[in-house]
Amino acid sequence: MRSLALLAVGFAVFGYAAQQVIFPAPLAGHFEKLAAAPGVNVTYTFRALGESASEYKLSLAKPNLFKLTLPTGFVQSDGKTLFTYRKKTNQYIETPLTDALVADFAKRPEVFAWSDYLAKKPGDGIAQAKVGASRTVQGNDVTQVDVTLKPGGTTGALFVDKKLGIARGYTLKTADKEYLAMATAIEIVPEAKPETFAFVAPAGAQKLEAAAPTASYGEVQAIMTATCMPCHNAERQRAGVILTNYEGVVAAVTPGNGAGSRLVKSLRASGAHRMPKNRDPLAEPQIQLIEKWIDAGAKKD
Ligand code: HEC
Repeated sequence: MRSLALLAVGFAVFGYAAQQVIFPAPLAGHFEKLAAAPGVNVTYTFRALGESASEYKLSLAKPNLFKLTLPTGFVQSDGKTLFTYRKKTNQYIETPLTDALVADFAKRPEVFAWSDYLAKKPGDGIAQAKVGASRTVQGNDVTQVDVTLKPGGTTGALFVDKKLGIARGYTLKTADKEYLAMATAIEIVPEAKPETFAFVAPAGAQKLEAAAPTASYGEVQAIMTATCMPCHNAERQRAGVILTNYEGVVAAVTPGNGAGSRLVKSLRASGAHRMPKNRDPLAEPQIQLIEKWIDAGAKKD
C-alpha cells in the first residue's frame, strides 16, 4: 500500500495523474477477482428509480462471451455473433460481433458493475474512486466505493462484498436516470463452458435481416418521423434538435463518423442523453442503418 501511495505521488509530480487513476483496494480487488474468474453468473434485481424492479441475469466468460436476460428478451454473444432477442415480437437479430459492439454492451446501465469483466483495461471508464462507508446489504457486509465516470456527469457506487471481493450491487446516476442493481446470487464459475453461450432460438422466433449495407436519407427520415416526434419538430425542438428535415438531421451528425455522431450516441445512450426519451430504444438494425448512412457521408439522395 505504502509503495502504491508513493507511486501515486510520483505520477502526480510527473503529471501522469490525470491518466492513471489509482483505485482504492476494494475496487482494485473487485477488478482483479473479475479478471481472474473463468466465468461469472449474476442473478439480480434491477430498476430505474420510479419504475418497478425486475429480475435480470448476466453470464460472462472469456473471450467476449456474454448473455444478459432481461424482462423484454435477451442479448447474447457467442464470441463471434451478437444476438438480440425481443420477447414482444418473438424476433431476433444477428449482428457480427465487433469490439465496438462489446464496448456498447459493457456501457449499458444494466450491467455496469460487472461488465468490466469484458474490458481490456478494467475500470478504464472511471475518472475518480473513493471508499465510502461499510454497510450491510441484504445480510452481506459490503464496502461502498463511490465513483465518477468519464467523460463526466455520471456517478455511481459499487457495493463490494467483503467476503466475495466482487460488487454485490451498485447504483448509477446518469444525466436523466438513476439505477439500482442488487444481486440475489453471484457465482464464480470454476471452469468456463463456451458451449453454454451457443445461441438457441426461442420456439417459433423469427430472424430479422440486419440493415442493408447502404441506407438512404429517405429511410433515415422515416425512422425519425416515426420515433422522434413530437419532441424534435419545429415547434418543440428539444435540445435545439430538429429531426423533421434534412438540414436538421445533418446538424445532429458528423458526416463520415456515425459512431461519433451526437445522434447515434443518443440512440446508444453512450455519451449523450438516451433517445428516444422515455421510450424503448430503437432496434439495433435501425441504429445501424442510421449509422451506416452517416458513415457513407449523410447524403441527401
Ligand atoms: C418524448 C420526447 C422526445 C422524444 C420522443 C425524442 N427526444 Fe430527443 N430529446 C428530448 C429532450 C427533452 C432532449 C434534451 C435532453 C434531455 O432532457 O434528455 C433531447 C435531446 C436530444 C438530443 C441531444 C442529446 C445530447 O445529449 O446532446 C438528440 C441528438 C436527440 N434528442 C435525438 C433524438 C432522436 C434521434 C429521437 C428519436 C429516435 C429522439 N431524440 C426522440 C426529447 C425527446
